Amino acid sequence: MTTNGPEVSGSKFYITTPIYYVNDIPHIGHAYTTIAADTLARHNRLRGRRVFFLTGTDEHGQKVQKAAEAKGLSPQEHADRMAGNFKGLWQTLDISYDNFIRTTDPGHKKVVRELLQDLWTRGLIEKRSYSGWYCTPDERFWTEKDLIEGKCPECGRDVERIEEQNYFFLMSRYQEALIRHIKENPGYIRPETRKNEVLGFLENQALGDLCISRPQKRLQWGIPLPFDEQFVTYVWFDALVNYYSAPSYLAPSYPGPWWPADVHLIGKDILTTHAVYWSCMLMALGLPLPETIFAHGWWTIEGKKMSKSLGNVVDPAKVCGEYGVDAFRYFLMREIPFGHDGDFSEAALVNRINTDLANDLGNLLSRTLTMIEKYRDGVIPAPVSGKFRRGWTIGGHQTLEGDVQDSFASLNEDRIYERHLDELNFSAALGHLWENTVRRVNKCIEDSAPWKEKDDDTLSNLLYCFAESLRLIAIRVYPVMPSSARQIWSQLGIDEKIEDLPERPGYLEWGGYPLPGRKVKKGNALFPRILTAAAAARSGAGAAPGGGKEKKTAMIKETAKMQEANEAAEAKAPEDKDLIGIEEFAKVELRAGRVMKAEAVKGSNKLIRLEVDLGEGQQAPRQVVAGIGRQYRPEDLEGKTVIIVSNLKPARLMGLESRGMLLAATDSEGTLSVLTADKDIKPGAKIK
Ligand code: ME8
Repeated sequence: MTTNGPEVSGSKFYITTPIYYVNDIPHIGHAYTTIAADTLARHNRLRGRRVFFLTGTDEHGQKVQKAAEAKGLSPQEHADRMAGNFKGLWQTLDISYDNFIRTTDPGHKKVVRELLQDLWTRGLIEKRSYSGWYCTPDERFWTEKDLIEGKCPECGRDVERIEEQNYFFLMSRYQEALIRHIKENPGYIRPETRKNEVLGFLENQALGDLCISRPQKRLQWGIPLPFDEQFVTYVWFDALVNYYSAPSYLAPSYPGPWWPADVHLIGKDILTTHAVYWSCMLMALGLPLPETIFAHGWWTIEGKKMSKSLGNVVDPAKVCGEYGVDAFRYFLMREIPFGHDGDFSEAALVNRINTDLANDLGNLLSRTLTMIEKYRDGVIPAPVSGKFRRGWTIGGHQTLEGDVQDSFASLNEDRIYERHLDELNFSAALGHLWENTVRRVNKCIEDSAPWKEKDDDTLSNLLYCFAESLRLIAIRVYPVMPSSARQIWSQLGIDEKIEDLPERPGYLEWGGYPLPGRKVKKGNALFPRILTAAAAARSGAGAAPGGGKEKKTAMIKETAKMQEANEAAEAKAPEDKDLIGIEEFAKVELRAGRVMKAEAVKGSNKLIRLEVDLGEGQQAPRQVVAGIGRQYRPEDLEGKTVIIVSNLKPARLMGLESRGMLLAATDSEGTLSVLTADKDIKPGAKIK
């Protein structure tokens, strides 16, 4: 087995996110890039590297000037507020950035002016008369042939003809050198598809020069050019320099230079500005180029482009409030291979939470601690050597816990998890970890059935094995889910911080940490299961009395009560968990039905008689009697598309036959909400 001290200890790792525009509120797209950067920063810190993780805001330019005007604020006041929104979100999302750059910082402006002056002095900036098509929202000039049907090729909006004097950076001079650099450094632009895109562009058309100024008469909100104060700097030139200016006044101390950055993380929307403009700027300045520019894919929301007009902009703080910060972070890192486009939906998020987090990791922790409490008074036992399971083998045959130990050993040997993270393959890293550790340990629990174990030493070996596995899993998941990792450690009775690990060599070794003797502290469920409509039916939440208003989603969080009940059941008989197979679930037939008629049942203040169209052709609508009269008036239900258990044996309520059950969710406060479809869907549609 190899020793797993931090392999790269001592070296530096400088990672950046784009600096986000302050004309908009932060959303899931911004959160995605920043969470990925945070994961990499934490991963590298854990390996003993000196990390500088930079994020920030892009505060100059026409868009910001306009957004501020619209709110009756000065651009600076507006920028101050918006930068605060980003910082607030990063705190919510547990983002461990080292510093936050704002392009209105005096330290940044100084560097921008110095670099411009340098290029000007060396004749790499020229003043020219210029006419072109200008897209105001995108702040970009286009040539006649760039336009698509006379509109901006990027956003499709109107462009205006502008003629003016401007300053140009002689970018075209660097075309050949850039092509060479990209070819000689295969990791420079990633993923491969993006590299090919940039090369295709550079090899097939002449690179123009870059207009890097805006006349003050058109735009005031920018950094004045040092050699002509009648002009301000083009916002992209200003913004890109942030990566280089920040180390000069915002970086933690480090004996060597921070520049060049190791990774610029960006979305694919800003690939050209980074791969072409920024690279050429650096070449002209005689500065080294970053190691890697990684352009990730694009999130859509339930199949649609995210936009304010569609009203589907996902607020990360809201999602986290509902489902938990770490669950959100995990979902974003696990769901889509980094570099690919992805689609966000609550259903996909819930599915990940329920399977990978609640069923796999959360369950592993809760059942392990429950068993340690039950069989060892809450104290983690030492593994027993000298008895028949010594060395984790019996008579030359590997024991179950020996298999588990081997899984961790091979994870250390091939370092595949770390290598996937180094390569920004977050999803593959997590998939590998779950397959080879989390699920394997759960299987070991099922196969070894500790609750039937009569031999004390064997039981100690098993319990130690599960606890040690959790300790090691927590270290691995820490970069993606820092707070859950901390909770696992704390529930295992470890006071030390995972962040302090680089100090402790061998922390990734099996047995490389003094775990035995610690008193476990079982806390709340790490990842509460989320109930879907179907599961709500099983749990009896449907048609139960309560009180409340309609909910948009057909999902409810499992109530604290149910969780307690689940855990109590597990402590009693871990092998009898109340799980059902898909075939059992498939027996329940759920259908969407339209309420044609609804009336109160005479003599009852709780029951409502419904006539529901279940798309059953010639047949009359179904009569369903539901106990929701205290919360709903009959007329509020007519016309709604509700969810019905359609293959339930008929029941009689107050003398009326009910052929089916209406689903409703009830929360811990007793609020009741009838589950409805959030889109127009045909009566009879099956719910799967
Ligand atoms: O472009 N999916 O800032 P910006 C994935 N200020 N990522 C998304 C996304 C989505 N739907 N939407 C946004 C700017 N992003 C400039 C950058 S850098 C020197 C200047 C993420 O506020 C993604 O990282 O428009 C994208 O590149 C960035 O937000 C754009 O942020």
